[in-house]
Amino acid sequence: MIVNEQAIGIFDSGIGGLSIARQIHQLLPSENLLYVADTIHAPYGEKSTEYITQRAFEICEFLIQRNVKAIVVACNTATVSSIKALRAKYTIPIIGVEPGVKPAVFNTKSGIVGVLATAQTLKSASFNDLAKAFSTNVKIEVQPCPGLMEQVEALSLDSASTEALIKQYVFPLLEKGADHIVLGCTHYAFLAPMIKKIVGPNIEIVNTDFAVAKETARRLDILNLRSTHVGQGHVEFWSSAPADIAHKQFSMLWGESVTVFKI
Ligand code: DGL
Repeated sequence: MIVNEQAIGIFDSGIGGLSIARQIHQLLPSENLLYVADTIHAPYGEKSTEYITQRAFEICEFLIQRNVKAIVVACNTATVSSIKALRAKYTIPIIGVEPGVKPAVFNTKSGIVGVLATAQTLKSASFNDLAKAFSTNVKIEVQPCPGLMEQVEALSLDSASTEALIKQYVFPLLEKGADHIVLGCTHYAFLAPMIKKIVGPNIEIVNTDFAVAKETARRLDILNLRSTHVGQGHVEFWSSAPADIAHKQFSMLWGESVTVFKI
């Protein structure tokens, strides 16, 4: 039987999924959260579907052993690669994240939408089905971004090298006329201020981290699984990165000094 006070498990290839975890923590402050960063196997973006699915299963087993009541796959690449297989195996709610093509298509004025994501996400069947379903009257231009998640992992959020990489990836989309830039990788949420600075006020940046938090709440509500605890939930972090690096990464992105357990 699932109990309301069990934690919500959240995972990503690294620290990108913290962009979703922080939204869940804000929206559902009394929920206990258990976050796993699969850092030694990152990046997922250049790996095969089989490899990523195997990693996803291994992490889900870890989370299930720790008795989570739901799992949020806080990684676009892991979602497109493995969510069907995860849902086929586990009975608890499994919530994924996909690039926010739908809101961008709905709001574009130029009729051109740009998507930044990993190569693996962009070549996946589920992303291509999504893009096809929403490109009747709108052109969707995609841009793989090798190296960009690594800049976030290195906490290089406003360096000259990150700026140069973003310009290299974003300018071609702007030249094609995109007025919406979809952040199709959870790591890129932490680069949103830099991306905004580069694209200027007339270009919208589309991020789905809040939508995933809302969807998590909705899925818990369907099963009546919201925490009934009064006050802040307990947030636990796990990472396979060396302890000193993990401490620095999580503390900076979570906004306070936190303990990170070694997985
Ligand atoms: N954060 C992941 C995503 O949302 C990908 C980063 C990686 O390449 O591992 O796609």
